[in-house]
Amino acid sequence: MKIGLCGLGTVGSGTFNVLTRNGSEIAARCGMPIEIVQVGSRRPNPACELGQTSFSTDIFAVAENPEVEVVVELLGGTTVARELIIKAINNGKHVVTANKALIAEHGNEIFALAKEKGVTVAFEAAVAGGIPVVKALREGLAANEINWLAGIINGTGNFILTEMRDKGRAFEDVLKEAQALGYAEADPTFDVEGIDAAHKLTILASVAFGIPLQFERAYTEGISKVAPEDVQYAEEFGYRIKHLGIARRLETGVELRVHPTLIPENQLIAKVDGVMNAVVIDGDAVGQTLYYGAGAGAEATASAVIADLVDIARASKEGANVGVPSLGHSDDQLKDLTVVPVEEVVSAYYLRILVEDHPGVLAKVAQILSEHGINIESIVQKESEQFDGLIPMIMITHRIQERNMDHAIATIEALSEVRGEVMRIRVAALN
Ligand code: HSE
Repeated sequence: MKIGLCGLGTVGSGTFNVLTRNGSEIAARCGMPIEIVQVGSRRPNPACELGQTSFSTDIFAVAENPEVEVVVELLGGTTVARELIIKAINNGKHVVTANKALIAEHGNEIFALAKEKGVTVAFEAAVAGGIPVVKALREGLAANEINWLAGIINGTGNFILTEMRDKGRAFEDVLKEAQALGYAEADPTFDVEGIDAAHKLTILASVAFGIPLQFERAYTEGISKVAPEDVQYAEEFGYRIKHLGIARRLETGVELRVHPTLIPENQLIAKVDGVMNAVVIDGDAVGQTLYYGAGAGAEATASAVIADLVDIARASKEGANVGVPSLGHSDDQLKDLTVVPVEEVVSAYYLRILVEDHPGVLAKVAQILSEHGINIESIVQKESEQFDGLIPMIMITHRIQERNMDHAIATIEALSEVRGEVMRIRVAALN
């Protein structure tokens, strides 16, 4: 099978190197060799040793090359990459991409065109790097109704939260290290503010529930407001704070949300630290399964890119219709399930409220919560941390609809004995 590789950054170089190094093993697995007939990169000096492989700084030449059967798009971004993929599809070529932003934001258009032209667009590498979670959903779990899934799907954010917990390090300092490790996005606000995770969650939800990609409806909240003391207090209550993407099927629609989340420390996913990723999937037949591994990095992501190439090669060899529905559901069977607004989500909450340290304040806060139907599960007041007459009051509540919590928090913030904003983090039991 003849392929053209576009983009020679971290993942492009990793893909070239793994395909070259493991060429004979890969050929044995798909029943034919995979030959890189052309590499395209906008940077004139190739970042890895290309040997005899043809090289062009015109990436569109790869999509026009009549020899190329599959275009591998590893450029990133949503402008040139989109143009390239559309050109490749229009020229009857299959596409393999690691581009989560492009699939999440323009996937509906891309898959519709691919269907029309009878080609495949494969995107395993777009979600959680080397973890074959898209294949797990489409193949291994194909018998199940998926109830929900929850994932740590941004390595940079997980690395930051882990370092804050283990070493009490400052946010900026940890972010710089993640950038040096090659994990962070070109614009690291994508990592820290949850946009990257929302891209990946959008794709997972689409495959899991058979719904169109709806990135614009995902609720996205970053980790930049999480203070080191929140990490510490959560731990005192028996929880870890993780930046989680959650997708859940409801009778009325689906939840699609990315936000910092308290997870009980005895859950396996709570122990996933550093830059690692993990996804828990709950299926009606199988129950919970957990997928763990490297969510980024050159060869880890290459592993997923090449697995997609092997799929396409196998399907073409077997004479199967290679243009399989890209989302794992036939396009005409996609369900019209709406994403429910976050105000309707029901969750337990961690609250940190800075209050004046005198009699009656706790009673006032408790009264407001009670008036909004919010039941307190645990509460502590940190007398030892009194500063300037103020103390933090920290609590975990029972589950309540977000709308009620919004109203309660606004009322609490208006009390004269309360300072600043109430810190709220959702708690997920993951069961
Ligand atoms: N910036 C991403 C992360 C890279 O930190 O996980 C992989 O998509």
